[in-house]
Amino acid sequence: MNWNRRHLLDIESLSADEIRLILETAKAFKEVSTRPIKKVPVLRGKTVINLFIEPSTRTRTSFELAAIRLSADVINFNAEASSFRKGETLRDTVRNLEALNADIFIIRHSAAGAPHFIARFLKGSVVNAGDGAHEHPTQALLDVFTMLEKKGRIEGLNVTILGDILYSRVARSNIWALTKLGANVTLCGPSTLVPKEFEKMGCRVTYNIDEAIANADVINLLRIQHERQRKTMFPSINEYSSLFGLNYERLAKTKPDALIMHPGPINRGVEIVSEIADCERSVILEQVTNGLAVRMAVLFLVSGGKGPREILQ
Ligand code: CP
Repeated sequence: MNWNRRHLLDIESLSADEIRLILETAKAFKEVSTRPIKKVPVLRGKTVINLFIEPSTRTRTSFELAAIRLSADVINFNAEASSFRKGETLRDTVRNLEALNADIFIIRHSAAGAPHFIARFLKGSVVNAGDGAHEHPTQALLDVFTMLEKKGRIEGLNVTILGDILYSRVARSNIWALTKLGANVTLCGPSTLVPKEFEKMGCRVTYNIDEAIANADVINLLRIQHERQRKTMFPSINEYSSLFGLNYERLAKTKPDALIMHPGPINRGVEIVSEIADCERSVILEQVTNGLAVRMAVLFLVSGGKGPREILQ
């Protein structure tokens, strides 16, 4: 199949074939990153705006590097030093940036739906880099890419997502991507943060951590999203850590080849014992590496690329 979308706004609206096409394109770009010359000219002459209205380390940096590797010009919009501070609206901000001939807008915003909103009136492409608690599509794509690389398949894989599901855009995008590709997804965490409602998305909810991790091929840990919680969802960090944190006792009960994943940023000592985050079974930094290939693929596809064959020529 060929890619025919101008934007990447979410995973929910993608078909399984579209997700597979992004993953195959990312694999081709990962090969490009092993070459002595890591740049390709596919976005030469295009302008990419990194519009992050929320903090980011991994996503912002890897989108910037992805655009550079594709030979685009990149502007990192600094919200704190911009006219946002004087009350300019998001709509006016992006329309002014488009008046400077920007082609691709990568947006992170605390409001769910912000990328969809700007995609309605911009002529260029929009890529969602995380909108509130709604979706973080490229994080899910790099997570699935890493699982596929390490396990060789997604269909039938047992993936446990552990932690703050309610406020997590990473969880939502992962659930959509994994269930579309045939994985068995289990969600676990405090009942206040893992409502049974999530079962409607095609996954299983349990509050028994030992059972959730026993048969997992992948354990994806999520941080407590304090910035989005509007009330106290559990008594204390210590209690959360002792009931749901991944410690050595729990690790010993998992499959010996279960992957440990985390989208970052990690709160060491809360959702995971610090040394486990750095152990052999942890692929946390490989996720970051794969994020570059995935974001190169997304920028290439939304700007008119059709698929991996064009890159490997
Ligand atoms: N995983 C993730 O989105 O990290 P950043 O907030 O650092 O981009």
